[in-house]
Formats: sequence, C-alpha cells, structure tokens
Amino acid sequence: MCGIFGCLVKDKDVAPLILAGLKRLEYRGYDSCGEATIHEGKLFVKKGVGEIDKVHAELGLDDLPGEIGIGHTRWATHGAPTRENAHPHTDCEGKIAVVHNGIIENFLELRKELEAKGHVFKSKTDTEVVPHLIEEFMKEGLGFQEAVIEAVRKLRGSFALAIIYAGFEGMACVKMESPLVLGVGRDGIYVASDIPAFLPYTNVVIQLKDGDVAFIRPDGFRIYNFIKGREVKRKPRTIDWSADMAEREGYPHFMLKEIHEQPRCLKNTLRLDRRYLTMMADLISSAEEAFMVACGTSYHACLASSYAMSRLAKKAVHPVIASEFVENYGSFVGPRTVLLAVSQSGETADTLEAVRHARERGATILGVTNVLGSKLTRMARVYVCQQSGPEIGVAATKTYTAQLSVLTQLAVIMAERRGKIGHVEAEDLWDWIHKLPDLAESVIEVTEKDIIRLAEEHVGVEKFAFVGSGINLATALEGRLKLLEIAYAPSIATSSLDGVTAGCLGKGSTAIFVCPSSSPDRKRLLDEACMARDHGLNVIALAEEGDEEVKEASDEQLVLPVPPELPEVLSPLPFILPLQMFAYYVSVKRGLNPDKPRNLAKSVTVK
Ligand code: AGP
Repeated sequence: MCGIFGCLVKDKDVAPLILAGLKRLEYRGYDSCGEATIHEGKLFVKKGVGEIDKVHAELGLDDLPGEIGIGHTRWATHGAPTRENAHPHTDCEGKIAVVHNGIIENFLELRKELEAKGHVFKSKTDTEVVPHLIEEFMKEGLGFQEAVIEAVRKLRGSFALAIIYAGFEGMACVKMESPLVLGVGRDGIYVASDIPAFLPYTNVVIQLKDGDVAFIRPDGFRIYNFIKGREVKRKPRTIDWSADMAEREGYPHFMLKEIHEQPRCLKNTLRLDRRYLTMMADLISSAEEAFMVACGTSYHACLASSYAMSRLAKKAVHPVIASEFVENYGSFVGPRTVLLAVSQSGETADTLEAVRHARERGATILGVTNVLGSKLTRMARVYVCQQSGPEIGVAATKTYTAQLSVLTQLAVIMAERRGKIGHVEAEDLWDWIHKLPDLAESVIEVTEKDIIRLAEEHVGVEKFAFVGSGINLATALEGRLKLLEIAYAPSIATSSLDGVTAGCLGKGSTAIFVCPSSSPDRKRLLDEACMARDHGLNVIALAEEGDEEVKEASDEQLVLPVPPELPEVLSPLPFILPLQMFAYYVSVKRGLNPDKPRNLAKSVTVK
C-alpha cells in the first residue's frame, strides 16, 4: 500500500499542494517519497529516502515549478527503500513520470522484453516497466493517451497509476484493483489513493472503477475504460465526511477499516513471487530441524501453519514463542537448522534475538514480514513480504489473515514438492486458497450485523472462554488475544473446555466454540458445549451454513457463509473474522477506543 497524489490546478504551482496531499497520505507508507511536475514542456523530479518531512527538508519538495504534478509516498513491495526505488519512475529519456500503488505481477517478463529492446532500468521496482512501456508504444508511433491505454492493457495485477508526460498538458490516471479517486474542484482536478488527501480543496468525488483511465486536462477530463474498450461516464458525489473520518475512509476506527480491508490484502498475498516461497519450501524440507519463531498474533499464525505443514507436507516445523527460543532450543541450533521468523513489523526484539542467535550458529534464516527494509528482511536469507500495507490499529487483524494465507501457501508448496499430496488434492487446495478473499468478504458482510447485536448483549459479560481444537486452537488463541487487547476482558483460550474450568468461569460467562464441520474433534467440542451450558455458561458456536448439529449444542450460532467442504487447514482464516469483529464491537460498546488500547504497543522493539 502506497499513497498517490496528483493535481492540475489553474494558474498555480502545484508542488506545495502535492506535498500537503502526501502528508495526509503518509499513513499509507513512509519509507521514501517523491514528486514530479511539468513546466514549459519539461519534466522535473525530486525524490528521496525517509519520511516526507525528512526528504522535504533535504530537497525542498515544494519548489518544483508547474501546474501539473504527481507525488508518491511509498510502502515498499518490490525493491528495498532506496532513492532509486522511490517513485516517481521515469522512462529512458526522462519525459514520462509514473507513480504507482499495487503490484504488477508480470513485471519481470515485461522488463525482459523491454530490456531486449534497449530500455535501461534504474530501479528494482515493478513500477518502472510502466514508463518504459509507454515510451515504447510512443516510439512505435502512438500518441501519449493511446500509448497509456496500450501499456496498461499489458499489465497484470493491481495498479493505481498517475502518469505525466512532458509533451502532454495533463495527466493520465489508471485504476485497477488498487484504490484511486478523483476530486473535482472549482480551480482544479485532484487524484489520490484516498479522499482525505484532497478534502481541503474539494468534497466532490468520483470513484474510479477497475479498468478506468482518466485523462485530465485543464478544460476537464474524460474517462476511458480499457476493459470495456470505450469511454464511460462516472457520477460525481458530494461527501460530508470530516477530514478525520475521511482518513479512515469513513470508518470510525482504523481497526474496523483494516478488518474490512482483509479481502483486498488476501488478494495481494496471491500475487507473491512463487519463486521465493518455493525456495523457502525447499530449505525447510531439507532442514534437519525446522522452527517458526514469532510473538503474539504472528505466533498464532505460526501455530496454525505448523499444523498445515505437518498435515499436508508431513514435515514438523516447530512453532516457538520467540522469547522462549534461545533458552530452550538455542544450544542445539546449527547449520542444518532452518528458522522461519514471522513478524508483521520485522522489528520485534524477541523475534530478532532468536534470529540473531540462530544466525550466529549457522542456521538458515527465513522471514515473512509486512515491512520491506525491516531488520528481519536484512537478516533473512530468503524472505517474503506479505503486502498488507501499513497497519495502524494496534491490534493486528489484516496482517494476521495475510500471514495465514502466505504460510498456508508455503505449506501447500512444501507438500507438492515433497510429493506428499497428489495433484488433484493440490489443485483443490489452490482453488480454495484463491477463493479465500471472496469468502472473507462475504463472511464479514454476512456476520457483521449479528456480531453487533451479540456485542451489545456482551457489554457486561465479565469472563470468556474461546475453544478451538487442532488447527483452530490458533483461532481460539487469536480471538481471545483480540478481546483481551482491546476490550480488556479476562478470558481463556483452550483446545478443550473441561468441567472444572467451566465451573470456575461460572454462570453468566460466555464460551465461544469454533466448530467447522471439518474438525476431527467436532463431536467432543459439541459435547463440551453442552456441558458448558449445563454449568450455566452462555454458549456461542461459530459454524458453517446448514450445520444443524451445532444448533442443539449452543445458545447462539454465528453462521458463516462458508461451504462445509472447505478443507480444515484453511478454516482458521474465515473463522477468525467474526472473532476480530466481536472484539472490536465489544470494545466500542464498552466505550473504549480499540485503536488505542492501554498498556499495549503494536510491536515490542526493545527487550
Ligand atoms: C497483536 O494484536 C499485537 N499487536 C502483538 O501481539 C503483535 O502481534 C506482536 O507484538 C508481534 O509483532 P510483530 O508481528 O510485528 O513481530
């Protein structure tokens, strides 16, 4: 996730407006930034590494000349945070500048084709193929606008783009899966990843749709849709959000916004470069001893995927809470050990300590993180960036499901390469993995109303138990952690609720059972749910559509629109979603601020 801002304003140098717009988008990414403008038929570019204020202090981002310009604040996806990789990116002649948010899946093959035609690349980014492609089409004789359309037709993946060209008095903006909105003001037209970026200038908004290419000129704009192959009309709407609300896209809290972003983040995890997952899979497979280390939510993702790895790939990859690693396993770690560290931030002190120790003893370090350029990416031999974009809410949500998706893909690749699953099972698993973003979307949509009601009923409940067995012990642990973190509700998570514990919790407490029909322990879970009711607990069961058995064992059912055929190894992903929302709404109903839980840092970077 990066932030894009562009504008065309009559009789005004736009560089200061772009700078202000980027500042309002900084929460989307902040490892590097840059601007480009056009003035008297010339392209001007400034860019640098670091937060916007730092780069501005060094370069003076607001003194570029021109009434047309684009800017970008970056959250690295391809290529480390360096000046070369910062946006805008330009073509060979330095006449076309592009800023991009998203992932271009086929950039490697496009880059090879373009290099064969003599184009020289300066960065390691996927984005840089775009200015070179446009340049190439223009060399073949197309005008700028036609060249943009032909270029974007060749791209696969997700891309929001703002493009300027020294020979064109205007700007091209493209939307495909990544967000991009136009703001129509009295004196100018704005384009941004998010509405708040231009809200001080206009509240008239046009939401671009996938395939839209808007050509903005001083006298107005027109929108062409490259999927439909024709010009389209998009209706402007006037929004009445405050600047504060707009930053959260109208959501009252970042946490809720991030819960709703999960389908998009999951799609991003399906665009990862398979080569790195395959390298990881092979390194883990050939290890004498393999560990996953992490803290908090990331540890829960490891726990779930260790089940997936042993079930599918028949390989034990031990999940260890990072702070426990050195003391308990450190003495026999060696060159034949593989350590997979999972950390959203890539900076958690305990996780890095385990990595440091294992590295010193010659182990192979692998990493899964959300932050390219983090310490973990510098210490790992192979790492994968989960592409969730910055997570502002202290309680991890979208980064957890993205970790699950990445690690489950790794488990399937391991299973395939070790010959532990047949091609039919593998294809079936991949089909399901590709359905997960849509499944997540419908789970959130369908269950949210019921969860709001349930949360209201639970404002005063003091104690909770989360029960999930096998792979869904991780779901129970993560559901509990969320409630604890943001609603401060004393609660336990367990794979089996016995009579003693139920008795201790006592009447008036709530037990939430995670009951996918694929669970091999289902009968026991249902028996325990009945027992808990006998002890006076209120029992909520999370189950799939059409699950009649669950009804008899529980007081309330949260029915997820998930087909019962969903393989059990994938069930932690949809089943955590209602629990994230439950924690969020209980916190809100208790009058707390879920974005700012007390006594809690997003990740602990000091020991
Ligand atoms: C989860 O809601 C918390 N933010 C916390 O437990 C977190 O998962 C843990 O600190 C690990 O952080 P990391 O993934 O950045 O290493």
